[in-house]
Amino acid sequence: MADRFEHAEYAGLTALHIVAFAGSLRRGSYNRALVRAAGALAPEGMTVEPIEIDALPFYNADVEARGDPATVAVFKAALREADGILIATPEYNDGIPGVLTNAIDWASRLPGQSPLAGKPVAVMGASPGQIGTARAQLHLRQLLAHAQARTLPPPELIVAAAHTRFDAELQLTHEPTRKVLAALLERFVNWIGRERAAAEAERQLAGMIPASR
Ligand SMILES: Cc1cc2nc3c(=O)[nH]c(=O)nc-3n(C[C@H](O)[C@H](O)[C@H](O)COP(=O)(O)O)c2cc1C
Repeated sequence: MADRFEHAEYAGLTALHIVAFAGSLRRGSYNRALVRAAGALAPEGMTVEPIEIDALPFYNADVEARGDPATVAVFKAALREADGILIATPEYNDGIPGVLTNAIDWASRLPGQSPLAGKPVAVMGASPGQIGTARAQLHLRQLLAHAQARTLPPPELIVAAAHTRFDAELQLTHEPTRKVLAALLERFVNWIGRERAAAEAERQLAGMIPASR
């Protein structure tokens, strides 16, 4: 337990609030089930709050110009207030589903004000196929990099053959996958602590460098 919060303690963290969502709207979604499993396997001190993206309208700059709709504002506030974000993506046509792109599009706005900018994000995904969202996760990492999120480096959590990893009640029963998910969450704790410490060091450095330089 002591090394679990090694970096987090360094950054003065004792508890972490993670918001988590899946890029799927369907009730029987393996990715929504993976989010729920993350909540159950979270290390001590970490809470994982599942949030839904089904109420977000299609991104439309005209709508945005009149002010974020209430569902978008709530979504962005949840991301902003979280210590970190966990995203489970399905793979659609080698990339991420449109509903997830839409959520990222809203969250990436406005330039300079995005709740994703500088935010620690961890990525995972489940699919019944053999590649288990490997291509979708690369796609998602690309979008998150553009939004200046601080995405947890690999190893990835790739749940292939998802129909054999979850039971009929969508409980994650595959023990090796449970172990990898728990390990990802522990790495995420340290990643968040490390990012906090790095940001603090940057602030201190900025204060030491004369403004004219
Ligand atoms: C439009 C569409 C495209 C898909 N493309 C892929 C794909 O490229 N690779 C893959 O592994 N699975 C693909 N699938 C299957 C999904 O991985 C599968 O439906 C998965 O269960 C969706 O995630 P969910 O269970 O969280 O809803 C596709 C499914 C749909 C509906």
